[in-house]
Amino acid sequence: MMKHVLLPLFSLLLLNQSVSHALPLSTKSRWIVDEHGQRVKLACVNWVAHTDVMVAEGLNKQPVDVISKKILKMGFNCVRLTWPTYLVTNAFLANLTVKKSFLRFGLHDDILGIQKNNPTFLDLSLIKAYQAVVASLSNNKVMLILDNHLTKPGWCCAITDGNGFFGDKYFKPNLWINGLRKMATLFKDNLNVIGMSLRNELRGPGQNVDDWYRYMQKGAEVVHKAKPNALVILSGFNFDKNLSFLHNKPVTLSFKDKLVFEVHWYSFSSVSAWKDGDPKKVCHQAVSNYTRMVGFLPKQGYPLFVSEWGVDLRGTNEDDNKYLGCFLKWASKHDFDWALWTLVGSYYFREGVVGMEEYYGILDYDWANVRNSSFLEKISVIQSPRHGRHYFDTLP
Ligand SMILES: *[C@@H]1O[C@H](CO)[C@@H](O)[C@H](O)[C@H]1NC(C)=O
Ligand SMILES: *[C@@H]1O[C@H](CO)[C@@H](O)[C@H](O)[C@H]1NC(C)=O
Ligand SMILES: *[C@@H]1O[C@H](CO)[C@@H](O)[C@H](O)[C@H]1NC(C)=O
Ligand SMILES: *[C@@H]1O[C@H](CO)[C@@H](O)[C@H](O)[C@H]1NC(C)=O
Repeated sequence: MMKHVLLPLFSLLLLNQSVSHALPLSTKSRWIVDEHGQRVKLACVNWVAHTDVMVAEGLNKQPVDVISKKILKMGFNCVRLTWPTYLVTNAFLANLTVKKSFLRFGLHDDILGIQKNNPTFLDLSLIKAYQAVVASLSNNKVMLILDNHLTKPGWCCAITDGNGFFGDKYFKPNLWINGLRKMATLFKDNLNVIGMSLRNELRGPGQNVDDWYRYMQKGAEVVHKAKPNALVILSGFNFDKNLSFLHNKPVTLSFKDKLVFEVHWYSFSSVSAWKDGDPKKVCHQAVSNYTRMVGFLPKQGYPLFVSEWGVDLRGTNEDDNKYLGCFLKWASKHDFDWALWTLVGSYYFREGVVGMEEYYGILDYDWANVRNSSFLEKISVIQSPRHGRHYFDTLP
């Protein structure tokens, strides 16, 4: 009796956490699938490595392997690990060691923290440190998506920061292409690196459809050539909220079954709508907007990856609280792949502030505990595939 009750529960818990999928992944209609054609639902968390120091956050707080294991334990099967283009294209920065990178900003306490928790990192170059984080996650069978978050390291994203669209001050197409090629080449044989996100949150006055097709298609080809096993993930206009131009004109690529689109949805994506409106009505309107902008893509046969969403986990932001129910319903109904913003409990140095706390972070300030366990419980409904294999098998 006991056995019968426990067995299904046990297998359910294991579903996303320790089953290692037959990598690499590819796409089959709107789903991401493994080598056996089984659906793999991405339940990722964003881990930031694109701020000024260009080191994955939190290494001053916990050993990297402890963090990798915490990610799995919290029910995530994947990490969207961010990187700035300069990590691989800027000769001066590429030669810095972790220690020197922290010294540039006078972050002596962080050096002590890394000395204590991850001593082998201090004398690594920044790119080797990034590789060591990827290696720890890979060894723990966490899947990874490498996200080109911006060019010049720092906080992201403002319309006027010069990183918004092709041709902006820091966003020269050739440099971007070189960076993508280098990064894809570096990780070409690592099957746990399942995807490359080509660029985060396009924005600003330079946005135009012609350049989007020109450069996104070029970037996709370059990544695919260097790392044919990776999913290639493309983002849209206006902070990754608008891919509506794909209604009329599909992307043209030389390869098949690797293309995924991404979208971001926060409460503030709807500006002040949540504050002023009746939550039910706003939800209805927001969902209808998202359907028009991106939500049609699964019907066209592409997976849609909600690569950023999240809330202030103190539960004190009323807009976030209203949005959360709406978002979870939408994500669950359509069974999207997703990445929560964020793993990070605190930053080394963000927007000029040393040790800034991140209230959207699933881990607390010291990266020791879950910040809000009731939130983690709430999102467990979207961590496992809703429809599972059965639904997938019944698809046309
Ligand atoms: C970076 O290191 C390489 C090899 O050690 C060296 O050739 C190059 O001059 C260095 N670049 C800079 C900008 O220091
Ligand atoms: C979405 O992008 C298209 C193509 O550039 C544009 O015509 C449209 O106005 C945008 N929609 C919104 C709501 O931003
Ligand atoms: C939906 O889109 C319309 C038109 O772009 C906009 O005025 C409205 O604020 C949006 N509503 C939400 C909730 O996002
Ligand atoms: C967790 O979030 C809930 C709202 O979802 C809130 O009521 C609660 O106070 C939060 N707990 C902590 C420890 O912040």
